[in-house]
Amino acid sequence: MSLLEIKNLRKEYDGVTPLKSIDLTVEQSEVISIIGPSGTGKSTLLRCINRLEKPTSGSIVFDGVDVCEKGTDLTAVRKKVGMVFQSFNLFGHKSIIENIIMPQMDLLGKSRDEAKKEALLQLRRVGLEEKAYNMPDELSGGQKQRVAIARALAMHPQIMLFDEPTSALDPTMVTEVKNVIRHLAEDGMTMLIVTHEMRLARDISTRVLYLDEGEIYEQGKPKEIFDFPKRERTRAFVLRITSWNWETSENGRDFIAMNASLEEFCRSRFMSRKMMNNCEIVFEEIYSNYFLPLFEKGESINVQFILEAQGENEKLTLTVITNGTKTDPFSADIDETAAMILKSKAVRMDTDKENTAVFEIKH
Ligand SMILES: Nc1ncnc2c1ncn2[C@@H]1O[C@H](COP(=O)(O)OP(=O)(O)OP(=O)(O)O)[C@@H](O)[C@H]1O
Ligand SMILES: [Mg+2]
Repeated sequence: MSLLEIKNLRKEYDGVTPLKSIDLTVEQSEVISIIGPSGTGKSTLLRCINRLEKPTSGSIVFDGVDVCEKGTDLTAVRKKVGMVFQSFNLFGHKSIIENIIMPQMDLLGKSRDEAKKEALLQLRRVGLEEKAYNMPDELSGGQKQRVAIARALAMHPQIMLFDEPTSALDPTMVTEVKNVIRHLAEDGMTMLIVTHEMRLARDISTRVLYLDEGEIYEQGKPKEIFDFPKRERTRAFVLRITSWNWETSENGRDFIAMNASLEEFCRSRFMSRKMMNNCEIVFEEIYSNYFLPLFEKGESINVQFILEAQGENEKLTLTVITNGTKTDPFSADIDETAAMILKSKAVRMDTDKENTAVFEIKH
């Protein structure tokens, strides 16, 4: 028997039906990442599984029990299903250890001593034993999220549901939370993870689900979804999250705005500081040395910049395409220093199109 079997799940709210028909079977130790545009019901799906939401119709059989049936013991369900939210949801006026002790006493009927022992054990697992007696607001975002994970683990759930566990965190704290999730995957924990973190999804998932139009629009191994998506919407979505695109004809030539947008893309991919700097430098050198002089001369040239991350090793390329203008900006002489800087950060690739230049950003 599968651990979780969802059939024909539908969830309607007044005026919106985020989930039309979801069918999903999850086996023990599977790690499933759920991706998709905003508002497609990713959170709703997780909330239906642990019955924070009541499905409109369909069935969710978890560990042999249909959690949608009338009279289901919801406390029993929540004991087996651990949930971690974007916003941690710790009790601010209780110490870290109390936050972990309480639910064990309330839901599992454990004695305080037993619950405390377990709490310390789980805090050690997420590397935060020394913070046991601190208050939540004395911890960083990443630490709070690790506490939230420890709290869920202390219940010994059969499955863990994560709803964008890293998206409220500063980039510097993302890694520590990702590492905890990674270790859980290695320990064989069954997990459903809603995430925009492609690197994590790629590294640890056994399966990726792309949710759209109220259904599981496409699913497959990480490689299949991220590198070879089959359906149109998946392709468009994956492209959006894996590439940065700026067209001067549409978005203007405001360098600050371009750079801010490029930086936002790099951040959203949790790129290392070094890679992010390299991307920015390459873009800046190309922009200010090839294009700015042309713009200043009043040339009616349009440029499209595309920064793409490809493949498992996240090879980064910056493609620059001009609108077949009579000037070939790439043959223009550029300042020697600029050329040197560019060479140190990127390799120019061969292309057969005159109006296109591709630079692979060095790692
Ligand atoms: N309690 C609610 N009452 C009414 N509508 C709701 C409720 N919760 C969610 N919705 C609507 O259901 C849809 C799906 O919401 P959901 O939060 O599941 O999306 P999501 O995929 O998690 O989005 P995001 O990526 O932004 O977190 C949205 O249109 C949302 O406005
Ligand atoms: Mg959500």
